[in-house]
Amino acid sequence: MVGDAAALDPLGPFDFVVGMHLLGYAASRDALVQMGKSVARNVRPGGRFITEILHPEVSRTPGYYRKYGIEYFLADDLRDGDEVGFSLHLGNTTTPRLTAIYWTLDTVASALAEAGLADLRRVNPELSPQGRTQYGTAFWDDFMRKLPHLFLDCTKP
Ligand SMILES: C[S@@+](CC[C@H](N)C(=O)[O-])C[C@H]1O[C@@H](n2cnc3c(N)ncnc32)[C@H](O)[C@@H]1O
Repeated sequence: MVGDAAALDPLGPFDFVVGMHLLGYAASRDALVQMGKSVARNVRPGGRFITEILHPEVSRTPGYYRKYGIEYFLADDLRDGDEVGFSLHLGNTTTPRLTAIYWTLDTVASALAEAGLADLRRVNPELSPQGRTQYGTAFWDDFMRKLPHLFLDCTKP
């Protein structure tokens, strides 16, 4: 099923909706609200929406996330609606510069609340056993110290 996340009909209701790298594609605050409403239409009461936004304290050091396959091109003073540039490094291939939109936590919180999603809270990610086994714990130190994303969890009342 492929559709605009800002205009989804009821497909559920589901216990969870997961939207990774989604809210950064809302071109306006209203689009954020519409995405939230699509989620709210599809989650049962008590169900949850798990999502993420760019972390406000994402590292600005050039190449910081290069070993994790991504490079960001960010203004020092990011504000709501600003463009976020990034390239993905996949093996020997580097994508052209891609773009998303930066939304502050306050704006996302108010938009999701307006959409009918409550109790927004941050989630602290943990290193998976697979990640530890495959690359070793030390590999992830920089990533865990300066997370590029802020993970969020909210509930439909
Ligand atoms: C960076 S990818 C992330 C894909 C996936 N969620 C993941 O984590 O691997 C962003 C995806 O969102 C899609 N996208 C952008 N705007 C959208 C919208 N309004 N509705 C649905 N999908 C959208 C893009 O086409 C792209 O496939």
